[in-house]
Amino acid sequence: MKRIMIHEFGGPEVMKLKEMPAPPCTERMALVRVTACGVNFIDIYQRTGLYKNPLPYPIGLEGAGVVESVGDGVRSVAPGDRVAWTGIPGSYCDMNLVPADRLLKVPKWVDDRTAAASMLQGMAAHYLARSTYRLRKGDTCLIHAAAGGVGLLLCQIARKVGARVIGTAGTDEKTARAREAGAHEVINYEKVDFEVEVRRLTDGKGVQVVYDSVGKSTFERSLNCLSRRGMLVLFGQSSGPVPAFDPSILNTKGSLYLTRPSLFHYIATRDELLERSHELFNWIKDGTLKIAIGATFSLDQAADAHRALEERRTTGKVLLIP
Ligand SMILES: NC(=O)c1ccc[n+]([C@@H]2O[C@H](COP(=O)([O-])OP(=O)(O)OC[C@H]3O[C@@H](n4cnc5c(N)ncnc54)[C@H](OP(=O)(O)O)[C@@H]3O)[C@@H](O)[C@H]2O)c1
Repeated sequence: MKRIMIHEFGGPEVMKLKEMPAPPCTERMALVRVTACGVNFIDIYQRTGLYKNPLPYPIGLEGAGVVESVGDGVRSVAPGDRVAWTGIPGSYCDMNLVPADRLLKVPKWVDDRTAAASMLQGMAAHYLARSTYRLRKGDTCLIHAAAGGVGLLLCQIARKVGARVIGTAGTDEKTARAREAGAHEVINYEKVDFEVEVRRLTDGKGVQVVYDSVGKSTFERSLNCLSRRGMLVLFGQSSGPVPAFDPSILNTKGSLYLTRPSLFHYIATRDELLERSHELFNWIKDGTLKIAIGATFSLDQAADAHRALEERRTTGKVLLIP
């Protein structure tokens, strides 16, 4: 089998394609022939060492494929089943050994690439809009990087639940993509100060929630976009980590809430994983959610995929096809 490994933290070039024997299928595990691997920004944090794992580390967290064999005690999936997963290190590969209780059966209306594309980013968009801050009709939200993988999905979900959606994106082409995904207004934050524009668009009131995955370059102004008792959902740091700050600014800016959530705490139990993925797959079925695959690369082009993502050249989902 083939798998991408890192032996040191660093640039995209530290990712190396290794050949190794496929592992035996042990108790409670399923061996899956991988047909699509999802690329996510967290893979970049793990590659650079911003998020440190012991080395050597097998990179990649999600994918989809077909079950080849199952170990003792596995009843939830069987050979031949189409499955998808997220949160499993070592997922940039062509064969993957996955704990059976983390596998989701892929319904027939979802193809493998769409399944791989909707796991991490789709369930993230789901928990952010449905659980962290439960968006309602009448809310106005600000979504940064609205044309990105999570961003395009969050725009669609926010629109579906009746919120007014203000997005930001780094090019005019991206602002158009975010508008197509349902954002009512999209600010090119490379050209316009989004804080000033959000104040103008909300008649000075601000928004109930900001979904901020950009971090360092947006954090302070995101707080300034909130209405009284609004919530900043800081869920990523594509531009770099937010520096330490005095929590009393949450008081002076209007008794604000700040949370720094992770998907893996919102799908920690099998029940919650099934609930979220069930709703997600149904939204794909009824057309509420369109999964945009922005770019595909072969497994041995993982470095090119990372360069494209971190240089802000992608919209929607990036996949590796083994
Ligand atoms: N906490 C969670 O549970 C969770 C789950 C999933 C994802 N995330 C986070 O959500 C974010 C989006 O993830 P994704 O995989 O969907 O990636 P993505 O949004 O497709 O890509 C990142 C985007 O961030 C924007 N960006 C702004 N400044 C940037 C900079 N200096 N360098 C790179 N990008 C910059 C770019 O869009 P523009 O050019 O339009 O600015 C870029 O396309 C990441 O921060 C990720 O860590 C968090």
